[in-house]
Amino acid sequence: MRLLFATLSCASLFAASKDVAAPTYAKEVSRIIQKNCESCHRPGQIGPFSLTNYKEVSAFKAEIKRVTTAHIMPPWSAVPGHGDFKNERRISDEEIATLARWADAGAPMGNAKDLPPARVFNDGWALGPPDLSYKMLEPFTLAGNGVDVYRCFVVPSGLTEDKYIRGMEVRPGNRKIVHHVRTFADTTGQARKLDEADPAPGFDCSLGMTQAYKRIAIGGWAPGLITDLRAEDTGALFPKSSDVVIEVHYHKNGLTEMDQSELGIYLNKVPVKHIAKSAIVANIGIRIPAGDAHHEERASYRFSKNVIVTSVLPHMHLLGHEMKMTATLPDGTKKELVWAKPYDFNWQTNYVYKEPFLLPAGTKVDVVAYYNNSESNPKNPSKPLKEIRWGEGTEEEMLVGFISYYDAPQAAAVTAQNR
Ligand code: HEC
Repeated sequence: MRLLFATLSCASLFAASKDVAAPTYAKEVSRIIQKNCESCHRPGQIGPFSLTNYKEVSAFKAEIKRVTTAHIMPPWSAVPGHGDFKNERRISDEEIATLARWADAGAPMGNAKDLPPARVFNDGWALGPPDLSYKMLEPFTLAGNGVDVYRCFVVPSGLTEDKYIRGMEVRPGNRKIVHHVRTFADTTGQARKLDEADPAPGFDCSLGMTQAYKRIAIGGWAPGLITDLRAEDTGALFPKSSDVVIEVHYHKNGLTEMDQSELGIYLNKVPVKHIAKSAIVANIGIRIPAGDAHHEERASYRFSKNVIVTSVLPHMHLLGHEMKMTATLPDGTKKELVWAKPYDFNWQTNYVYKEPFLLPAGTKVDVVAYYNNSESNPKNPSKPLKEIRWGEGTEEEMLVGFISYYDAPQAAAVTAQNR
């Protein structure tokens, strides 16, 4: 039956009849879409349309087949088998094949009795009420047209003593336009000055502005992100007297929209034993020739102490299309940390390991990155093409692999290694 079915391209006739081998919306497809797509494709979310019922999903059947087969949706760049991540957003090959067969069969509905209950989303704080929360002091109005906006909003932390952060979550004020958010603590007062100098709420922090103040990263949020708490005795410093900076990347949707997003912070409740830190593997000497569609650049870093690695974050700009991070242990063993391909500037991801692991002192981390500085890259901002070097601007490039870790005590590390 299945063979016969595969040979028929115009299958909508069959779709109407019963007993067809093709999957149905009610039975299989609704469940696949609920699990993999609805987190973003529902009202008020970042997806450009909703995929929550038969009418909506069947209208996009051909598009759904195309974007899942091409691994464009759900957005997830890490190649399987190169790191085991707990925030993975991946649809299985079997699910992709099911969606394709369903689309080819003319998107049959099936029996409504087979439909799963609607998926319930927690649109409040996914981790429960935070210990501290910082909302943008005023709403920000975003014009409907023009280029994307990066805006930084400053909120005093009110902290009179140092604290440690176990986790964070952002509650976007307007999910239609908030593409992603990064948050920082600023102890210098610089961000506050920049905010005061700009008459509108917040200040412009498109790439060229982000280094204008010194900052400590608190964390980031993007649609579909699974928020996660560190171990209860592991935290990042949240210094007293700091200002909180909420950096929002706004994506315009053609309408004037308002946003007032909020950062929630979860503090460590027991004394912190491990301080969350970040290693930066970067190469500021990169030179990417004009016209080269697959230019290679490298960076490396050596750990001088035993560390436990918890996550990695590859970072490039619009020319970057692939990055691989590999650790070589002192005994020569290689461990692949992540392979982001195709890398997408709009879907930068902190890849969180299911099991944090030890990298002993002397481990070398190598990063290999590829850039497309040719006209075949539709995102290439430089016209005419020119050699591109390191820089903060959108037209410039970066090569950074961020590694989140905490120090491992020598004795414990040796035990872990010998196990
Ligand atoms: C993490 C959020 C997210 C998830 C999960 C997600 N999408 Fe999307 N989708 C988007 C966004 C945002 C866009 C708009 C384009 C962009 O920004 O990449 C989009 C665009 C699309 C498009 C239009 C693409 C084009 O090239 O025109 C289709 C079709 C689509 N998604 C289908 C799906 C399907 C099917 C799934 C599940 C298998 C899914 N999406 C999962 C966020 C998501």
